[in-house]
Amino acid sequence: MALRCAHIIPAVVLPVVGLLLLVLPTKDIEMPPEHMYGIVLDAGSSHTSMYIYKWPADKQNGTGIVTQHSECDVKGGGISSYAGVRGGAAKSLEACLEQAVKEIPKFRHHQTPLYLGATAGMRLLNMVNATESQRVLKEVEKKIQSYPFKFKEATILSGQEEGAYGWVTVNYLLENFVKYGFVGRWLKPDRDTIGALDLGGASTQITFETSEKVEDEGNVTELKLYGQTYRLYTQSFLCYGQDQFLRKLLAYLITAQGVKTQVFHPCYPQDFNTSIKLGKDVFDSPCTERYRPAIFNSQMSVSVVGTGDYQKCLGNVTKMFSFDNCNFSKCSFDGVFQPSVRGNFMAFSAFFFTHSYLKGLTNIPITCRGQLEEAIQLVCNMTISKMTEKTNQPAKFMKNVCAVSNFVQVLLMQGYGFDEHSLPTITFQKKAGGASVGWALGCMLNQSSMVPEERPGLMKALPTGPWAGVLFLFITLLFIALGYTLMIYRDTRAKEDMV
Ligand SMILES: *[C@@H]1O[C@H](CO)[C@@H](O)[C@H](O)[C@H]1NC(C)=O
Ligand SMILES: *[C@@H]1O[C@H](CO)[C@@H](O)[C@H](O)[C@H]1NC(C)=O
Ligand SMILES: *[C@@H]1O[C@H](CO)[C@@H](O)[C@H](O)[C@H]1NC(C)=O
Repeated sequence: MALRCAHIIPAVVLPVVGLLLLVLPTKDIEMPPEHMYGIVLDAGSSHTSMYIYKWPADKQNGTGIVTQHSECDVKGGGISSYAGVRGGAAKSLEACLEQAVKEIPKFRHHQTPLYLGATAGMRLLNMVNATESQRVLKEVEKKIQSYPFKFKEATILSGQEEGAYGWVTVNYLLENFVKYGFVGRWLKPDRDTIGALDLGGASTQITFETSEKVEDEGNVTELKLYGQTYRLYTQSFLCYGQDQFLRKLLAYLITAQGVKTQVFHPCYPQDFNTSIKLGKDVFDSPCTERYRPAIFNSQMSVSVVGTGDYQKCLGNVTKMFSFDNCNFSKCSFDGVFQPSVRGNFMAFSAFFFTHSYLKGLTNIPITCRGQLEEAIQLVCNMTISKMTEKTNQPAKFMKNVCAVSNFVQVLLMQGYGFDEHSLPTITFQKKAGGASVGWALGCMLNQSSMVPEERPGLMKALPTGPWAGVLFLFITLLFIALGYTLMIYRDTRAKEDMV
């Protein structure tokens, strides 16, 4: 009996001591959450978003350590929509920049990097009027420089950069580069990276790791991250963002039916009727140049009348792509080389919204090709009032769901070459790990060297200092206590067996 007590006492006392150690000294070692911050302004073609990221101040090089702190949507259009409006683009950013000043602790302001990247909207403006696009960028730069953050310049990202940064974001958030293992070291997780599919307002990007020969050097991006080289295929299609695609479709329909005051649109809901101006709504874009009539009145109003015809819509949408004239062993479309898609993909931005509208409107889960087709057919036959009622979204978005869904279908299947088997490998997501999926995070990680080239051998993820010591002690004591309990149990069983 005395012997037993001697066993039980440590089994009870040790965890209690451990617990006390955990509870008692917390007041002394309580540390304020010391974070560093970074800001990215994503100046897209249709709108600008500001993202604030944060990470623990004592470490910065591990996957999953940078998280999204908050997000701010700039009111009004993208910065390219302020072409010809002096001061407009700069002023539009004020509210969000003020929010950043308030949200980030004052003593961190001067250490906080800020990046502004403009994408396809500004690429297009740069094609139309380079002087004006430079003026807009300079104006925006001056505005941001009046804030206390660490800021160099506002730039227009290339399609390649946009695609690669999106891929970095996706794989960083899914912890596909490195992972902090149980043994206390950074490890390369034994899994493949996943491809990124981005659909913006003016361009769309496809980026994935490939071992195939990339026949067009312009499509290769090599990234060295955490001691490993990733060979990416990336392609950005200008004018294949959803807004510019819709413009091209409208331009094609108007030209094909002859410029009249009324044009029939097979992708608009039946009996839906809207009025557009030939200039600002259709032909004032480099993307619709090939359909532009020699003479037309840009102020002319045309009423666009929907006929809600799935087959005709699909046929016209398909005509917007060119599937011949390939100078390589194989092409996606428009003569662009593409290796076969492989592995899993994440589709975000407008891909996500289209997928989510389709699901919401039809209650079809959409995980395979048949379901996708079925859902699009149903949506193309819906009235505008039923659509706005079911989704609570305004008609200005709903009128395009049939056209954009067909566009997404043709782009993924006939364009990129996904089939019955590979289509289900695409997940449609807006967020991962609490952060919005897009190029912004990848851009910040890259620009601030937070995804190092070298293998992070000596990086630490566990908290250091007294807290870690106490935690270690507690865990050790817990194991010792467990060991004792097990011994006593065996002891008792042995004695009982003997009786
Ligand atoms: C381009 O923009 C500038 C202002 O930055 C303007 O003066 C000029 O007329 C524009 N050019 C064209 C061709 O629109
Ligand atoms: C479309 O609307 C315009 C004016 O709102 C009207 O004149 C026209 O008849 C309508 N067309 C159809 C087919 O409903
Ligand atoms: C993170 O990586 C960069 C570049 O490799 C290096 O300069 C920096 O010291 C690293 N920071 C930490 C906390 O390991």
